[in-house]
Amino acid sequence: MNNKKYVLMVFAAIVLFVYPLNVHAESKKQNACITCHEFLGGALAKPVLDWKGSIHQDNAVTCNYCHGGNAGVSLGDLSQLSQQQFAAKQALAMSRSSGFIGIPTGQAMFDTCRKCHRESVDRYANSIMGKVYLDNKGGPSCATCHNAHRNVIPAVPKVCESCHKDTSGFDRIDPMNVTAVTINTLSKIRIKIAEQKARGDSPSLLPEFPEELGAFQIGFVAFGAVFILFIIGYIIYIILEKRR
Ligand code: HEC
Ligand code: HEC
Ligand code: HEC
Ligand code: HEC
Ligand code: HEC
Repeated sequence: MNNKKYVLMVFAAIVLFVYPLNVHAESKKQNACITCHEFLGGALAKPVLDWKGSIHQDNAVTCNYCHGGNAGVSLGDLSQLSQQQFAAKQALAMSRSSGFIGIPTGQAMFDTCRKCHRESVDRYANSIMGKVYLDNKGGPSCATCHNAHRNVIPAVPKVCESCHKDTSGFDRIDPMNVTAVTINTLSKIRIKIAEQKARGDSPSLLPEFPEELGAFQIGFVAFGAVFILFIIGYIIYIILEKRR
């Protein structure tokens, strides 16, 4: 065996040996936020419990993506630390200089979620409820409907009931985009629901035209349908003519 081949084989062997070790170490690297908050228990550990098994954990969105701070601080054995040592580790991880923002509320919460959910945040920020929330006048925050740490798509209208008495029709609008148009649409939906109730009907099985469609658009769709039927009829007519 010549020298070149020998060097190459040794090199390959080293890479093959070291690479899995490295990957293993990477995946076991701990997140200081999670380790310490779990260690503290009680209310400070609740965010960790809620977050575990959530869609954000599945996508590796850890505490520091939303709260900032330094998750890479090495903690060692927390139970062996003195009070000062503990406080020093905490200060290092949760320091403003490494971007820690504390509990995000108001605009800070929107900015946090906007990092990854731009379209959703913009939609909500420009809606009636989003503005009422930012003005601190009792509107729901993202966390009111989605939770802070176990983010889910909420059940509508259940999640609305803490603030709204009449939730009829709420399941037919986009709660993240309530505008003047929505209020108009909602009142039409509610009139229909009231009429159906008065007649004692069960909801109609036929698909209804979306509320936003005006008479003109409905006419246009109807015209299109008649036109297509006409063409189909004409084709059948020609085929039958040829057979004769
Ligand atoms: C060594 C322990 C320790 C580490 C590491 C740690 N925390 Fe904390 N954290 C605490 C303690 C204790 C409190 C509650 C008392 C306080 O606010 O000082 C707290 C409070 C918080 C709060 C509430 C803050 C407030 O203003 O009330 C948030 C949010 C938070 N931590 C997030 C994080 C994040 C994110 C990380 C990682 C970048 C982290 N923590 C790392 C111990 C820790
Ligand atoms: C998806 C973004 C997001 C992630 C990830 C996240 N948090 Fe939070 N956290 C929030 C928001 C938003 C609030 C404010 C909740 C509210 O206003 O109801 C909050 C509040 C808190 C609080 C204040 C007390 C409480 O329960 O509301 C603590 C402590 C905290 N988070 C710690 C953590 C820790 C530890 C992790 C990692 C396991 C974490 N957070 C991960 C967004 C996040
Ligand atoms: C670092 C990026 C990141 C940040 C910051 C973040 N998210 Fe997410 N979020 C994701 C990813 C990735 C998913 C899963 C993929 C998807 O469905 O978009 C997700 C999923 C979700 C879902 C579930 C969507 C579904 O279809 O089930 C909700 C709700 C959500 N996030 C809310 C929030 C809220 C509220 C905040 C701010 C407090 C926030 N997220 C901050 C990355 C992020
Ligand atoms: C009033 C309750 C409510 C509030 C407040 C709210 N959402 Fe939603 N969100 C919902 C519902 C219901 C859905 C599912 C239906 C839909 O897509 O509109 C949803 C869907 C989502 C989704 C999934 C993708 C999508 O657009 O369909 C994300 C991500 C999300 N919301 C993030 C946020 C963020 C970030 C905020 C704050 C800026 C927020 N939501 C505020 C109720 C709410
Ligand atoms: C934390 C309280 C809160 C929650 C939860 C909440 N809202 Fe609202 N909502 C408000 C406030 C405050 C206003 C603005 C005041 C007003 O005009 O009634 C508002 C206004 C509205 C409006 C326009 C005015 C009206 O009352 O018709 C609609 C529609 C609406 N919300 C739908 C929903 C839906 C759908 C949900 C659940 C997915 C929901 N809201 C959850 C507080 C809340």
